[in-house]
Amino acid sequence: MTDPSDHGSTAHQDDMRRGFLFKFSAALVGGLSAIIPVAFGGGFFLTPLLKKKKGGEDGDSFLMVGSTDSLTPGGPPRAFRVSGTKTDAWTTYAEAAIGSVYVSMNEAGNLSAFNATCPHLGCTVNYKADANSYICPCHDSAFKPDGERTNDIPPRPMDSLEVEIRNNTEVWVKFQNFRAGTSEKIPV
Ligand code: FES
Repeated sequence: MTDPSDHGSTAHQDDMRRGFLFKFSAALVGGLSAIIPVAFGGGFFLTPLLKKKKGGEDGDSFLMVGSTDSLTPGGPPRAFRVSGTKTDAWTTYAEAAIGSVYVSMNEAGNLSAFNATCPHLGCTVNYKADANSYICPCHDSAFKPDGERTNDIPPRPMDSLEVEIRNNTEVWVKFQNFRAGTSEKIPV
């Protein structure tokens, strides 16, 4: 014969189990709903910062600026505009002019390149063929064809850049800007 008090006790235990399961499920759902947006939101915010910034088509920071056809061995430097995509932590901007460089070819056919930005305060330097010098129009910084200073206005020589020939005639430059107004060449 069943003891009525046992029945009441079992029913009470069932109620407690149901209550516990309900609270556990609610806590689980609540926890997940809190974690998932944070996880995805965190991913959204962090992903741009974690993305590797790529340069040229090989992702090696070299950009094609022109052709060796426009360079004369032992001749004057030639100015090339540099186009590329700008990327900050959040956005990659469409292809646009990001600077300019001077490239010259020596008698042996080797290339050298300089960023055309003046290391004094950031104006664009001109090459003056009659003086065989780079001269900045802003405050008269002057440089020899090898980039060395010929006066004390700029704090350092012109900023040399890595350059190479690819596919026989393409001129590729590892473009980089540097902080103006410092004696050290500090990438920015
Ligand atoms: S910015 Fe070139 S001389 Fe001052």
